Amino acid sequence: MFELRCTVRKCHATLQRQENGLACSHGHNFDRAKQGYWSLVQPQDRKSSKAGDADTAVLARHRWLQRGHADGLIEFLKPWVTKAISCFPSQSTGTNSPRILDLGCGEGSFGPALFESYAEGFCGIDLSKRAVRLAAQGWPQATWVLANADRTLPIHDASVDCAISLFGRRPISELARISKPDGKCIIAVPAEDDLIELRERTQSSGHRRSRWEMIVEQFNSSGYQFLEHQLWKQQINLDRDAINDALAMTYRAARYSQQARLESLSEMQVTLAADVLLLNRTA
Ligand SMILES: C[S@@+](CC[C@H](N)C(=O)[O-])C[C@H]1O[C@@H](n2cnc3c(N)ncnc32)[C@H](O)[C@@H]1O
Ligand SMILES: [Zn+2]
Repeated sequence: MFELRCTVRKCHATLQRQENGLACSHGHNFDRAKQGYWSLVQPQDRKSSKAGDADTAVLARHRWLQRGHADGLIEFLKPWVTKAISCFPSQSTGTNSPRILDLGCGEGSFGPALFESYAEGFCGIDLSKRAVRLAAQGWPQATWVLANADRTLPIHDASVDCAISLFGRRPISELARISKPDGKCIIAVPAEDDLIELRERTQSSGHRRSRWEMIVEQFNSSGYQFLEHQLWKQQINLDRDAINDALAMTYRAARYSQQARLESLSEMQVTLAADVLLLNRTA
Protein backbone atom coordinates (compact mmCIF):
# COMPACT_ATOMS: atom_id res chain seq x y z
CA MET A 1 0.00 0.00 0.00
CA PHE A 2 0.89 3.68 -0.31
CA GLU A 3 3.21 4.61 2.57
CA LEU A 4 1.54 6.97 5.05
CA ARG A 5 2.88 8.77 8.11
CA CYS A 6 1.39 9.18 11.55
CA THR A 7 -0.84 12.21 12.10
CA VAL A 8 -0.54 12.36 15.89
CA ARG A 9 0.82 15.82 16.60
CA LYS A 10 4.55 16.07 15.74
CA CYS A 11 4.96 12.26 15.45
CA HIS A 12 5.32 11.83 11.66
CA ALA A 13 6.63 8.25 11.98
CA THR A 14 5.88 5.80 9.18
CA LEU A 15 2.66 3.84 9.58
CA GLN A 16 3.14 0.09 9.25
CA ARG A 17 0.39 -2.29 8.25
CA GLN A 18 -0.75 -4.50 11.16
CA GLU A 19 -3.35 -7.21 11.19
CA ASN A 20 -6.28 -4.88 11.87
CA GLY A 21 -4.93 -1.47 11.18
CA LEU A 22 -1.93 0.83 10.96
CA ALA A 23 0.56 1.57 13.73
CA CYS A 24 3.64 3.75 14.07
CA SER A 25 6.75 2.96 16.10
CA HIS A 26 5.53 5.27 18.90
CA GLY A 27 2.46 3.16 19.54
CA HIS A 28 -0.15 5.27 17.76
CA ASN A 29 -2.81 3.09 16.10
CA PHE A 30 -5.36 3.69 13.39
CA ASP A 31 -8.17 1.27 12.59
CA ARG A 32 -9.32 0.49 9.13
CA ALA A 33 -12.94 1.58 8.61
CA LYS A 34 -15.12 -1.37 7.70
CA GLN A 35 -15.66 0.22 4.29
CA GLY A 36 -11.93 -0.09 3.66
CA TYR A 37 -10.48 3.40 4.14
CA TRP A 38 -8.12 4.81 6.79
CA SER A 39 -9.26 7.66 8.97
CA LEU A 40 -6.15 9.71 9.76
CA VAL A 41 -8.01 12.88 10.55
CA GLN A 42 -7.27 14.24 14.02
CA PRO A 43 -9.91 16.10 16.06
CA GLN A 44 -7.97 19.35 15.60
CA ASP A 45 -8.02 18.85 11.79
CA ARG A 46 -11.78 19.06 11.50
CA LYS A 47 -13.43 22.43 11.22
CA SER A 48 -16.84 20.89 11.82
CA SER A 49 -18.16 17.40 12.27
CA LYS A 50 -19.44 17.55 8.67
CA ALA A 51 -16.33 18.52 6.82
CA GLY A 52 -15.69 18.12 3.10
CA ASP A 53 -18.51 18.22 0.58
CA ALA A 54 -22.05 17.60 1.80
CA ASP A 55 -23.36 14.10 1.14
CA THR A 56 -25.86 15.46 -1.40
CA ALA A 57 -23.04 17.00 -3.47
CA VAL A 58 -20.90 13.84 -3.21
CA LEU A 59 -23.78 11.58 -4.28
CA ALA A 60 -24.74 13.93 -7.13
CA ARG A 61 -21.12 13.87 -8.36
CA HIS A 62 -21.14 10.06 -8.05
CA ARG A 63 -24.27 9.74 -10.21
CA TRP A 64 -22.85 12.28 -12.67
CA LEU A 65 -19.64 10.28 -13.11
CA GLN A 66 -21.53 6.96 -13.26
CA ARG A 67 -23.58 8.37 -16.15
CA GLY A 68 -20.30 8.89 -18.01
CA HIS A 69 -20.32 12.70 -18.10
CA ALA A 70 -16.58 12.78 -17.37
CA ASP A 71 -15.60 10.00 -19.79
CA GLY A 72 -14.41 12.58 -22.33
CA LEU A 73 -12.27 14.28 -19.70
CA ILE A 74 -10.84 10.93 -18.59
CA GLU A 75 -9.79 10.11 -22.17
CA PHE A 76 -8.29 13.60 -22.44
CA LEU A 77 -6.32 13.12 -19.20
CA LYS A 78 -4.86 9.68 -20.03
CA PRO A 79 -1.93 10.98 -22.12
CA TRP A 80 -1.23 13.56 -19.40
CA VAL A 81 -0.97 10.79 -16.84
CA THR A 82 1.32 8.79 -19.11
CA LYS A 83 3.54 11.87 -19.49
CA ALA A 84 3.56 12.51 -15.75
CA ILE A 85 4.46 9.01 -14.57
CA SER A 86 6.44 7.50 -17.44
CA CYS A 87 9.69 8.89 -16.05
CA PHE A 88 9.22 7.19 -12.64
CA PRO A 89 10.06 3.49 -12.65
CA SER A 90 9.72 3.54 -8.87
CA GLN A 91 13.26 3.75 -7.63
CA SER A 92 12.61 4.18 -3.93
CA THR A 93 9.42 2.28 -3.16
CA GLY A 94 10.69 -1.16 -4.08
CA THR A 95 7.41 -1.80 -5.86
CA ASN A 96 6.60 -1.51 -9.51
CA SER A 97 4.31 1.40 -8.96
CA PRO A 98 5.12 5.10 -8.83
CA ARG A 99 3.53 6.93 -5.90
CA ILE A 100 0.44 8.80 -6.92
CA LEU A 101 -1.70 11.11 -4.79
CA ASP A 102 -5.23 12.20 -5.72
CA LEU A 103 -5.98 15.13 -3.46
CA GLY A 104 -9.69 15.85 -2.97
CA CYS A 105 -10.38 12.53 -4.68
CA GLY A 106 -14.12 12.70 -4.03
CA GLU A 107 -16.01 9.48 -4.73
CA GLY A 108 -12.92 8.11 -6.39
CA SER A 109 -13.90 7.36 -10.00
CA PHE A 110 -10.89 9.08 -11.57
CA GLY A 111 -8.32 6.89 -9.76
CA PRO A 112 -9.06 3.51 -11.35
CA ALA A 113 -9.98 5.16 -14.66
CA LEU A 114 -6.57 6.86 -14.93
CA PHE A 115 -4.20 4.69 -12.86
CA GLU A 116 -5.70 1.20 -13.09
CA SER A 117 -2.40 -0.67 -13.08
CA TYR A 118 -0.91 1.43 -10.24
CA ALA A 119 -3.20 0.51 -7.32
CA GLU A 120 -0.21 -0.41 -5.12
CA GLY A 121 1.17 3.14 -5.26
CA PHE A 122 -2.09 5.08 -5.38
CA CYS A 123 -3.59 7.11 -2.54
CA GLY A 124 -6.77 9.17 -2.60
CA ILE A 125 -7.45 11.73 0.14
CA ASP A 126 -10.74 13.46 0.88
CA LEU A 127 -12.40 14.99 3.91
CA SER A 128 -15.87 13.64 3.14
CA LYS A 129 -16.56 10.27 4.76
CA ARG A 130 -19.25 9.48 2.22
CA ALA A 131 -16.77 10.18 -0.59
CA VAL A 132 -13.90 7.98 0.69
CA ARG A 133 -16.38 5.19 1.47
CA LEU A 134 -17.57 5.17 -2.13
CA ALA A 135 -13.98 5.40 -3.35
CA ALA A 136 -12.86 2.43 -1.24
CA GLN A 137 -15.80 0.33 -2.40
CA GLY A 138 -15.05 1.19 -6.03
CA TRP A 139 -11.30 0.38 -5.98
CA PRO A 140 -10.42 -1.57 -2.81
CA GLN A 141 -6.87 -2.35 -4.02
CA ALA A 142 -5.84 1.30 -3.63
CA THR A 143 -5.25 3.31 -0.42
CA TRP A 144 -8.03 5.72 0.59
CA VAL A 145 -7.63 8.18 3.43
CA LEU A 146 -9.97 10.47 5.30
CA ALA A 147 -7.84 13.54 6.00
CA ASN A 148 -7.94 17.30 5.70
CA ALA A 149 -6.01 18.60 2.69
CA ASP A 150 -5.86 22.03 4.30
CA ARG A 151 -3.74 20.66 7.17
CA THR A 152 -0.46 18.74 7.15
CA LEU A 153 -0.84 15.78 4.80
CA PRO A 154 -0.15 12.27 6.23
CA ILE A 155 2.63 11.76 3.69
CA HIS A 156 6.44 11.86 3.98
CA ASP A 157 8.51 14.67 2.48
CA ALA A 158 9.68 14.20 -1.12
CA SER A 159 7.89 10.87 -1.58
CA VAL A 160 5.26 11.41 -4.29
CA ASP A 161 5.91 11.03 -8.01
CA CYS A 162 2.64 12.43 -9.28
CA ALA A 163 -0.06 14.43 -7.51
CA ILE A 164 -3.40 15.24 -9.09
CA SER A 165 -6.03 17.69 -7.95
CA LEU A 166 -9.16 17.54 -10.06
CA PHE A 167 -11.54 20.35 -9.15
CA GLY A 168 -10.28 20.02 -5.57
CA ARG A 169 -7.95 21.55 -2.98
CA ARG A 170 -4.50 22.82 -3.96
CA PRO A 171 -2.46 23.30 -0.77
CA ILE A 172 0.65 24.30 -2.68
CA SER A 173 3.20 24.29 0.14
CA GLU A 174 2.10 20.79 1.20
CA LEU A 175 2.17 19.58 -2.41
CA ALA A 176 5.69 21.01 -2.74
CA ARG A 177 6.75 19.30 0.51
CA ILE A 178 5.53 15.81 -0.41
CA SER A 179 6.60 15.90 -4.06
CA LYS A 180 9.83 14.22 -5.13
CA PRO A 181 12.24 16.44 -7.02
CA ASP A 182 10.94 16.44 -10.60
CA GLY A 183 7.60 15.10 -9.34
CA LYS A 184 4.66 16.09 -11.49
CA CYS A 185 1.41 17.74 -10.57
CA ILE A 186 -1.74 17.65 -12.73
CA ILE A 187 -4.37 20.24 -11.89
CA ALA A 188 -7.84 20.59 -13.37
CA VAL A 189 -10.12 23.53 -12.64
CA PRO A 190 -13.46 24.50 -14.19
CA ALA A 191 -12.81 26.67 -17.25
CA GLU A 192 -14.60 29.97 -17.73
CA ASP A 193 -17.51 28.55 -19.74
CA ASP A 194 -17.96 25.33 -17.77
CA LEU A 195 -21.72 24.83 -17.34
CA ILE A 196 -22.17 28.40 -18.53
CA GLU A 197 -25.71 27.69 -19.81
CA LEU A 198 -26.72 26.52 -16.36
CA ARG A 199 -25.05 29.44 -14.66
CA GLU A 200 -26.71 31.93 -17.02
CA ARG A 201 -30.08 30.61 -15.97
CA THR A 202 -29.43 30.33 -12.24
CA GLN A 203 -27.60 33.60 -11.73
CA SER A 204 -28.63 37.00 -12.97
CA SER A 205 -25.56 36.89 -15.22
CA GLY A 206 -23.45 33.88 -16.14
CA HIS A 207 -20.18 35.04 -14.67
CA ARG A 208 -17.14 33.94 -16.72
CA ARG A 209 -13.85 33.63 -14.92
CA SER A 210 -10.61 31.99 -15.93
CA ARG A 211 -8.40 30.94 -13.05
CA TRP A 212 -5.61 28.93 -14.52
CA GLU A 213 -3.06 31.73 -15.07
CA MET A 214 -3.33 32.72 -11.40
CA ILE A 215 -2.82 29.09 -10.35
CA VAL A 216 0.30 28.84 -12.50
CA GLU A 217 1.68 31.98 -10.81
CA GLN A 218 1.04 30.49 -7.37
CA PHE A 219 2.80 27.24 -8.27
CA ASN A 220 5.67 29.12 -9.93
CA SER A 221 6.39 30.98 -6.74
CA SER A 222 6.35 27.75 -4.70
CA GLY A 223 9.01 25.72 -6.47
CA TYR A 224 7.11 24.45 -9.51
CA GLN A 225 7.87 24.92 -13.16
CA PHE A 226 4.89 25.26 -15.49
CA LEU A 227 5.03 22.71 -18.32
CA GLU A 228 1.70 22.75 -20.12
CA HIS A 229 -1.87 24.05 -20.28
CA GLN A 230 -4.76 22.76 -22.36
CA LEU A 231 -8.44 23.47 -22.46
CA TRP A 232 -10.80 20.48 -22.53
CA LYS A 233 -14.28 21.18 -23.77
CA GLN A 234 -17.38 19.18 -24.67
CA GLN A 235 -21.09 19.80 -25.28
CA ILE A 236 -23.53 17.36 -23.76
CA ASN A 237 -27.27 17.00 -23.37
CA LEU A 238 -28.58 16.77 -19.83
CA ASP A 239 -31.91 15.26 -18.90
CA ARG A 240 -33.87 16.47 -15.86
CA ASP A 241 -32.04 14.21 -13.38
CA ALA A 242 -28.65 15.23 -14.74
CA ILE A 243 -29.59 18.94 -14.51
CA ASN A 244 -30.48 18.41 -10.85
CA ASP A 245 -27.18 16.59 -10.22
CA ALA A 246 -25.18 19.32 -11.98
CA LEU A 247 -26.79 21.88 -9.70
CA ALA A 248 -26.25 19.80 -6.56
CA MET A 249 -22.62 18.96 -7.25
CA THR A 250 -21.75 22.58 -8.00
CA TYR A 251 -23.49 23.75 -4.84
CA ARG A 252 -26.20 25.63 -6.76
CA ALA A 253 -29.13 23.52 -5.64
CA ALA A 254 -30.15 25.82 -2.79
CA ARG A 255 -29.99 28.95 -4.89
CA TYR A 256 -31.84 27.13 -7.65
CA SER A 257 -34.69 26.15 -5.36
CA GLN A 258 -35.12 29.80 -4.39
CA GLN A 259 -35.17 30.99 -7.99
CA ALA A 260 -36.97 28.01 -9.53
CA ARG A 261 -35.92 29.22 -12.96
CA LEU A 262 -35.12 25.80 -14.32
CA GLU A 263 -38.25 24.03 -13.19
CA SER A 264 -39.87 23.80 -16.60
CA LEU A 265 -36.78 22.40 -18.34
CA SER A 266 -36.81 18.69 -19.17
CA GLU A 267 -33.49 18.77 -20.97
CA MET A 268 -30.71 21.17 -21.73
CA GLN A 269 -27.50 21.33 -23.73
CA VAL A 270 -24.52 22.43 -21.66
CA THR A 271 -20.83 23.06 -22.12
CA LEU A 272 -18.36 21.15 -19.98
CA ALA A 273 -14.94 22.77 -19.89
CA ALA A 274 -11.80 22.38 -17.79
CA ASP A 275 -8.39 24.00 -17.77
CA VAL A 276 -5.79 21.30 -17.27
CA LEU A 277 -2.24 22.10 -16.11
CA LEU A 278 0.95 20.08 -15.83
CA LEU A 279 3.64 21.29 -13.41
CA ASN A 280 7.05 19.99 -12.45
CA ARG A 281 8.54 20.23 -8.96
CA THR A 282 11.93 21.74 -9.50
CA ALA A 283 14.77 20.17 -7.54
C1 LIG B 1 -15.58 19.26 -6.60
S1 LIG B 1 -15.19 17.85 -5.63
C2 LIG B 1 -14.08 17.00 -6.73
C3 LIG B 1 -13.91 15.56 -6.39
C4 LIG B 1 -13.10 14.71 -7.41
N1 LIG B 1 -11.75 15.18 -7.56
C5 LIG B 1 -13.82 14.70 -8.73
O1 LIG B 1 -13.39 15.40 -9.65
O2 LIG B 1 -14.84 13.98 -8.84
C6 LIG B 1 -14.13 18.49 -4.36
C7 LIG B 1 -13.77 17.47 -3.28
O3 LIG B 1 -12.90 18.07 -2.33
C8 LIG B 1 -13.24 17.58 -1.05
N2 LIG B 1 -12.75 18.49 -0.01
C9 LIG B 1 -13.26 19.69 0.36
N3 LIG B 1 -12.53 20.21 1.36
C10 LIG B 1 -11.52 19.34 1.61
C11 LIG B 1 -10.43 19.32 2.51
N4 LIG B 1 -10.22 20.34 3.34
N5 LIG B 1 -9.61 18.25 2.52
C12 LIG B 1 -9.81 17.22 1.66
N6 LIG B 1 -10.82 17.18 0.77
C13 LIG B 1 -11.66 18.23 0.75
C14 LIG B 1 -14.73 17.46 -1.07
O4 LIG B 1 -15.22 16.58 -0.06
C15 LIG B 1 -14.96 16.95 -2.50
O5 LIG B 1 -14.98 15.54 -2.55
ZN1 LIG C 1 2.79 8.18 15.71
